[in-house]
Amino acid sequence: MADTDDQSDSTQNGSLLANFFSELLSSPLNLALLGVCGFLLYKIFIGQKKQEAPRPKEPELPKLKKQDMTLEQLREYDGKGPEGRILLAANGKVFDVTRGKRFYGPGGPYGLFAGRDASRALATFSMTDDVFRMEYDDLSDLSSMQMESVREWEMQFTEKYDYVGRLLKPGEQPRDYTDTEDEQSEEMKEKSETEKKED
Ligand code: HEM
Repeated sequence: MADTDDQSDSTQNGSLLANFFSELLSSPLNLALLGVCGFLLYKIFIGQKKQEAPRPKEPELPKLKKQDMTLEQLREYDGKGPEGRILLAANGKVFDVTRGKRFYGPGGPYGLFAGRDASRALATFSMTDDVFRMEYDDLSDLSSMQMESVREWEMQFTEKYDYVGRLLKPGEQPRDYTDTEDEQSEEMKEKSETEKKED
């Protein structure tokens, strides 16, 4: 009796699995998504393996001065400049993701995000051309679930990377950060270095 139950269980499991695969392979959209996932996994893990070969550790770039920027200014930080710095924006905030070069650097799986506002891509889990706009994107057509997803990404970036400033809406003026703690501590550092040199 137990044998028959085991047998019917495994037959059921087998047919569930078969159903899952036939469902997966029957829709072109599912196939395309599967392809995208496979490609990204390949890029992430093969890229990682290639970089594991012994290489001199690159010095970290100095922290960028806190500043708000326009979409146009953001575009300059796509990792292809002489400094190789990479910024991206999510939910109106600009982050320095240079540390995540293997993701966002040229040829990386998320290289399209470099120097761009990645909010719509992150909200819609898509990387087609239409999610990267040339004009400021106010995201007003996104659903509350999509906006929630962007906020979660923003939190993740806040934990992992340096915050640079706000992404400016057209006509918006950048804030003056010279009186903020960050700026003060930079000034203190510079001052003590000059004093040391003078000694
Ligand atoms: C569907 C297939 C996908 C797979 C299998 C996949 C896989 C992964 C994996 C494994 C990581 C972590 C890598 C690590 O920490 O070592 C990662 C990170 C990430 N993924 Fe994906 N991903 C997929 C799709 C997407 C899409 C569609 C987007 C956005 C539109 C996206 C955006 C990101 C971002 C922003 C990171 C974080 C990189 C960082 O830590 O800075 N992924 N992905």
